[in-house]
Amino acid sequence: MILVTGSSGQIGTELVPYLAEKYGKKNVIASDIVQRDTGGIKFITLDVSNRDEIDRAVEKYSIDAIFHLAGILSAKGEKDPALAYKVNMNGTYNILEAAKQHRVEKVVIPSTIGVFGPETPKNKVPSITITRPRTMYGVTKIAAELLGQYYYEKFGLDVRSLRYPGIISYKAEPTAGTTDYAVEIFYYAVKREKYKCYLAPNRALPMMYMPDALKALVDLYEADRDKLVLRNGYNVTAYTFTPSELYSKIKERIPEFEIEYKEDFRDKIAATWPESLDSSEASNEWGFSIEYDLDRTIDDMIDHISEKLGIEGKHAL
Ligand SMILES: NC(=O)c1ccc[n+]([C@@H]2O[C@H](COP(=O)([O-])OP(=O)(O)OC[C@H]3O[C@@H](n4cnc5c(N)ncnc54)[C@H](O)[C@@H]3O)[C@@H](O)[C@H]2O)c1
Repeated sequence: MILVTGSSGQIGTELVPYLAEKYGKKNVIASDIVQRDTGGIKFITLDVSNRDEIDRAVEKYSIDAIFHLAGILSAKGEKDPALAYKVNMNGTYNILEAAKQHRVEKVVIPSTIGVFGPETPKNKVPSITITRPRTMYGVTKIAAELLGQYYYEKFGLDVRSLRYPGIISYKAEPTAGTTDYAVEIFYYAVKREKYKCYLAPNRALPMMYMPDALKALVDLYEADRDKLVLRNGYNVTAYTFTPSELYSKIKERIPEFEIEYKEDFRDKIAATWPESLDSSEASNEWGFSIEYDLDRTIDDMIDHISEKLGIEGKHAL
């Protein structure tokens, strides 16, 4: 039985049905502190900062794999570092301890480019590099990767983690991260409203589309244990763009779309992150690859958000 923590968030909302489709609805349990419609898949309320609750759930449902998504992301974490510490640090420790105690077979954790910092090289950053993050989010996520590796080497618990760049998607809107603009911008474009971007126009960041992000996480989960060398902290990425490059590409499709720039604290966070990643360890060890380039992502986002908002899609423009 697979348990997903933080299942009501941007990624969990899509990962849960993806896992259910692949492994059967009856074999997946969604959990979070807030409930969202899971389309008939079992949901339980589970606070990862509460060790007893985790123990009870893991035992009761005979959990043998955990996708540990619960967390407080970069922007929200800078507003409330104590909460980020409690959920990300204590929550991950609790999950790993419970997994060890109840002999869970695998724990998969999505990490982030937030583990990097200003001393990290800016371009084609390899998975093993300088990781001196300057956000509480980054501090807790690099700790989660290191704890994962520690639990593997010390206790034989099969923990695997990859580092997502910003994730672009249309189902659940992100609200807590630094890369959220790359989703928000599409809603404004489709509604033909002017978008106020909180990142500088030339702030390049690595990104990836949700279908590729889901496939990557599940491919890592399924990868042959003996083939994994790095095991924790695989960089994965699809492309890099700046807000102004993304804007130009959307404007090619929606000519009346306008943007203005007003940087806030999130631009300072983004300035400490790399512009592009090298994901060769993920490709070499477990076959990571992407299907969506930036143009395909943009077309798909505009189509789906137009449909979601009941506005005619790009072909009708
Ligand atoms: N979305 C991205 O761009 C991105 C990029 C890199 C890594 N990640 C990682 O992916 C994971 C999921 O991210 P997301 O984008 O879905 O985030 P999100 O903020 O959309 O969702 C996080 C979820 O965690 C839940 N949560 C918060 N506190 C909790 C607690 N105490 N117990 C249980 N659940 C709790 C929230 O209710 C929320 O539903 C995180 O670990 C994040 O670090 C996300």
